[in-house]
Amino acid sequence: MTLTQTATLPLEVRDLTVVYREQPVLWDVDLAIPPGQLSAIVGPNGAGKSTLLKAVLGLVPRASGQVWFFGQSLREARARIGYVPQRNTVDWDFPTSVLDVVMMGLYGQLGWFRRPGKREREAAMHCLEQVSLQDLAHRQIAQLSGGQQQRVFLARALAQNADLYFMDEPFAGVDAVTEEAILQVLHGLKSQGKTVVVVHHDLETVREYFDHLTLLNVQVIASGPMEETFTSENLRRTYGAKARTGG
Ligand SMILES: Nc1ncnc2c1ncn2[C@@H]1O[C@H](COP(=O)(O)OP(=O)(O)OP(=O)(O)O)[C@@H](O)[C@H]1O
Ligand SMILES: [Mg+2]
Repeated sequence: MTLTQTATLPLEVRDLTVVYREQPVLWDVDLAIPPGQLSAIVGPNGAGKSTLLKAVLGLVPRASGQVWFFGQSLREARARIGYVPQRNTVDWDFPTSVLDVVMMGLYGQLGWFRRPGKREREAAMHCLEQVSLQDLAHRQIAQLSGGQQQRVFLARALAQNADLYFMDEPFAGVDAVTEEAILQVLHGLKSQGKTVVVVHHDLETVREYFDHLTLLNVQVIASGPMEETFTSENLRRTYGAKARTGG
């Protein structure tokens, strides 16, 4: 078999199938995410969006399929990849400060055995400033609101200085101000040439916020530039008859 994976593609997925309890939740997924764009993954609850991110990142087992990051394996490319998990899947009770959580993002560059010093602390503070959380740096993570916690994990991803980011519903349950702050962060990453793949729920904003769209419901229904893929026919095939294209 000849493989044509390209170093310029941040993510390439071929024939990915994931099975939970003998039930396929992702079926034969092929995907090519273009570089330097904001890319949305959209689909109904239970469509397999979170599972797709976890499967490409090796966090859940794959029944079949191959994945390349910049033409490399996960192991080779790991330091270039950042992940912000879906908020309700994170255990918030651990006794750690906001600044410590953000500094965890630096360990990829630092190595686990070097203690973070002044420079790392300043870098982490800078990331907190980008999400307007510098005043809460020393607060325990468990004592933040949901939207603030979401921004902490965004700051941690920024600290990681990755080339490819996966974010699972970063806009879920945040107010308009936080939504705008997160959007600014995404645009900042894009202007640095980074690729961001975001699981997104809101069909009203997806066209405005993102360049590239993948519609998922166990299988990939459509994937490509927003203007080609965001059609009422594709949305109907993804969500059933009730979906609207908004705007
Ligand atoms: N650990 C697991 N064990 C068994 N089934 C699971 C597991 N995790 C997820 N599932 C099932 O796999 C399917 C896909 O779940 P997934 O979390 O990927 O959906 P999603 O598209 O992210 O949904 P949401 O929009 O609600 O976040 C669902 O039917 C879910 O119940
Ligand atoms: Mg999910």
